[in-house]
Amino acid sequence: MDFGGRDMISIRDLTKEEIEHMLGTAEGMELSPPGDILRGKTLATLFFEPSTRTRISFEAAMQRLGGKTIGFSGAGTASVAKGESLTDTIRTVERYSDAIAIRHPRDGAARLSAEVSSKPVINAGDGANQHPTQTLLDLYTIKREKGRLDVEVALVGDLKYGRTVHSLAYALAMFGAHLTLTSPKGLEMPREVISDLQKFGPRVAKEDDLAEVASKVEVLYVTRIQKERFPDPEEYERVRGTYKITMETLRNARENLIILHPLPRVDEIAAEVDGTRYAKYFDQVYYGLPVRMAILGLLMGAV
Ligand code: NCD
Repeated sequence: MDFGGRDMISIRDLTKEEIEHMLGTAEGMELSPPGDILRGKTLATLFFEPSTRTRISFEAAMQRLGGKTIGFSGAGTASVAKGESLTDTIRTVERYSDAIAIRHPRDGAARLSAEVSSKPVINAGDGANQHPTQTLLDLYTIKREKGRLDVEVALVGDLKYGRTVHSLAYALAMFGAHLTLTSPKGLEMPREVISDLQKFGPRVAKEDDLAEVASKVEVLYVTRIQKERFPDPEEYERVRGTYKITMETLRNARENLIILHPLPRVDEIAAEVDGTRYAKYFDQVYYGLPVRMAILGLLMGAV
């Protein structure tokens, strides 16, 4: 399967077989690191929004493969602050790099970048839309922990503005997972995302009681309320702190439950949960490394 030169913009652009191939490549890289296959290659990381894990793991992945990174984090330091357009920024950066990873507050910014760039563009999160590389690492984590992807998963939290869950719901449905959606009122999964899932079969349920959800599913995927996307700060105040996973929530948890979170966490998982056997969110962080090594190796045509 040849991914060389391709972009990675939406999870919808990938087939099941392609996702399986990427996950298999990541596993190979985790178990036996391939060495400097990206020597002489440069990845540009253009982060117009805050990031800890995504940007650093892309940089770490490049280094592990013998490549280099350039870029900026925070639009305030780049020429966009002078009024430069995104497309001019991309046309500039593509001349200095072999691939571009971009995070931007606007839905569609990654797609637009890919249209003007002759080098592969990787969407590291565009607005409330998509975050496909996070989805691959989420799938990888589930596969490593559960051995399969047709699991029972609850997506919890801000399903309206959360881009991670928009990408992940689609991929999980594709692999035959059963989804339970749990969100505060007003932050439900958008209708168009749900209707997109229907083509894989009717596998979506809703449930409000978190303890009940934890007693039924195998994977609890918890997300942060995406405060920065709220047009009205009062709307945020109404929903803030309305859900939290605590030991009490987990009192009847299913024996083989795992808890995942794309991070950052604010207050939606109590620290007391971190030491339990359910908590897998920091393993999930680790899995971001082999997954991003695989993505970079594949898109730059090195594997
Ligand atoms: C997520 C994001 O940026 O969408 N973070 C990440 O990449 N792990 C989730 C979030 O910000 O809540």
